[in-house]
Amino acid sequence: MPDHTIGKVEEFFPRVLRAFELDGISIAVVRMDDRFYAVSNYCSHMGVELIGSPVEGMDVICWWHGSSFNIATGDPNGGPAADPLRTYPIRVEDGNVVLVTPDLVQRTS
Ligand code: FES
Repeated sequence: MPDHTIGKVEEFFPRVLRAFELDGISIAVVRMDDRFYAVSNYCSHMGVELIGSPVEGMDVICWWHGSSFNIATGDPNGGPAADPLRTYPIRVEDGNVVLVTPDLVQRTS
């Protein structure tokens, strides 16, 4: 499973979701201080894209019906969603943000 650099650490504003397309899968990435997290970009409730949703504490709050998900575990913490978000491995390496995912990465937002 190849690794993919998606940008420099300084290109990510804290607590702002950015989406990347990976082999047909949309992944939301967020910087929390010096740590990075990656989850599915689709809300598990009704499947809307999470991009544009606020991040409060360690939770992303879906903009549509308000479901909250822990950004580290993907677990739902409130709202109508009952299922977790899928999480993806991500790390910082020499100032680069690296997703461990298959195939090509294209930034979508
Ligand atoms: S679609 Fe996200 S909470 Fe309903």
